[in-house]
Amino acid sequence: MSYKPLTKAVLPVAGLGTRFLPATKAIPKEMLTVVDKPLIQYIVHEAAEAGITDIILVTHSSKGAIENHFDKHYELETELALRGKQERLLPLREITPEGVRLVSVRQPEALGLGHAILCASPVIAEDEPFAVLLPDVLMHHPQKGCLAQMVDTYQKLHTSVVALEEVPDDQVEKYGIAEVQGPDLRITRLVEKPKVNEAPSNLSVVGRYIFTPRLMSLLKHTQPGAGGEIQLTDAMDALLQEEVMFGFEFKGGKSYDCGDKHGYLQANVEYALRDAKLGDTFREYLMSLDLQAR
Ligand code: G1P
Repeated sequence: MSYKPLTKAVLPVAGLGTRFLPATKAIPKEMLTVVDKPLIQYIVHEAAEAGITDIILVTHSSKGAIENHFDKHYELETELALRGKQERLLPLREITPEGVRLVSVRQPEALGLGHAILCASPVIAEDEPFAVLLPDVLMHHPQKGCLAQMVDTYQKLHTSVVALEEVPDDQVEKYGIAEVQGPDLRITRLVEKPKVNEAPSNLSVVGRYIFTPRLMSLLKHTQPGAGGEIQLTDAMDALLQEEVMFGFEFKGGKSYDCGDKHGYLQANVEYALRDAKLGDTFREYLMSLDLQAR
């Protein structure tokens, strides 16, 4: 099957982020910072590194700060240039990667992740594959981003590719879980948020996907599932009846579930430790802490 080239990525950002209240009362959860950049900026850069040129934000009226972040702030840039603050200008100009365009579509009602992705269908052609990146999840790799690695696999196989990661038993209920076969991780079944005793494995869907065009048409007919929501995982499971799909094991890197306070704090500490400017002094500071004291 020959599809259009893969150039589009859907980023669902309409969720209200209630787990992070009160921090997310007036700012979108995707704008929470890890060290010095909002979560969404890391995600957009991961997509750009993978060759994505069109980012489709599926958003909500309360999330305008995300679009503003990727827009040019003319007054701020002029002011910094006038004051000769070149070192402050550079990070501003790096916010939107070269050659990347962002468009927004609205999700009028919170009907689930599957429904959010379906809201992007007017801007994705019927023969067009697309990526999905969940902005809650940060994927760090020292050499090559997760989506860029998945694109390599997609270019070889021309099937849907889904990032998978093992999770402990007590975490299984939080994720989509995959049943896989063989060393190439062919996916045979997908279940959204199963009870641990009903889960087909411990392999969770991490939040990075590449889909063949058929997924979008299946989403149109996907009925509400777990939690009464239209689940992306259910449409993926339906796709398995028609096409092969492979899991992608993210090796040599680390994922951070920033939809959870613990994962978010871990990301901040570990990204700070890796930061070229802050890392050394921050490491010294952490080592000087008396961790028994409160
Ligand atoms: C979503 C997906 C789930 C996936 C998870 C990854 O769940 O529905 O399949 O494993 O993201 O973070 P949510 O976190 O929105 O509940």
